[in-house]
Amino acid sequence: MVTRRPPSRAEVRRERMQQAVNFPLDWLEERSGLVGGVKYFLFRKVPGDINWMQTLGSATLTAFIVQAVTGVILAMYYKPTPTDAYSSIQNITDHVTMGWLVRGMHKWGASVFIILMFMHMGRVFLFGAYKYPRELNWIVGVLLLAMGMMEGFTGYLLPWDQTAYWASVVGINLNGTAPFLGPWLAQFLRSGQEISADTLTRFYSLHMLVLPGAIGGLIALHLYLIIRLGVTSPPWSKEAAGEVQVDEAPRELRAGLTRPGSRGGNGDGGAA
Ligand code: HEM
Repeated sequence: MVTRRPPSRAEVRRERMQQAVNFPLDWLEERSGLVGGVKYFLFRKVPGDINWMQTLGSATLTAFIVQAVTGVILAMYYKPTPTDAYSSIQNITDHVTMGWLVRGMHKWGASVFIILMFMHMGRVFLFGAYKYPRELNWIVGVLLLAMGMMEGFTGYLLPWDQTAYWASVVGINLNGTAPFLGPWLAQFLRSGQEISADTLTRFYSLHMLVLPGAIGGLIALHLYLIIRLGVTSPPWSKEAAGEVQVDEAPRELRAGLTRPGSRGGNGDGGAA
């Protein structure tokens, strides 16, 4: 007969820690299936020969999240009126704790976001990843690009200094020269005939509510389509060309966030 030694204190502590971590995850999974969804997203299969260029989309997503977080912090101190806008920005830079850092991250992060979006789009183009069946995701991407640039444009006016003011005059006038819709577009952006306090309010609303909301929604659709359609192999892929046999043998199940198994709630992860 084999007698098992009693678990050491370290083992008992580890077991308790695991239970403490797994309990809320199992609770959430049973009621929403969200944990399974995240596991599916993180551990789904992708072609074996993808490369670093295919991380540019995730890098763009990270840049967007940084912009959203720093933007929310800035919005707690920024005042969108012609009399207070510039001084509130000065206050953020000079007096708010770490304000200079948050503002710097948001300002430079905007350029990083746009550059990454272009690099990601270049990768998709060079790999031919816009072709069937991913045309719709390319169109979603084009909308994301347009909205990303509108974010940059509307954000530029917010400090309400000379550079911001005149850059917006130029931008609005350029939009005004567009055929058919141009004059209406310029009027809409100015929120009237002249650039005024109303323009600042309009740009602020577009910059912190309308555009980030729309971009967030489009990113969700973009990611859904990526999961549904899978990631494209590089054009030089021997696997995709059928020259190399991919081993399709089932791999060992990964434990992931919670152990796979029935939802009996007996704490053994479904093990018989
Ligand atoms: C906010 C901006 C964007 C975010 C956060 C984003 C995110 C992503 C991510 C995470 C992926 C999967 C990994 C990868 O291929 O890098 C991806 C793929 C893709 N993206 Fe984007 N993207 C954005 C903008 C764009 C733009 C501007 C385009 C093109 C106009 C585009 C078109 C595509 C296409 C067609 C795919 C599928 C590629 C494939 O199957 O290999 N995306 N995107």
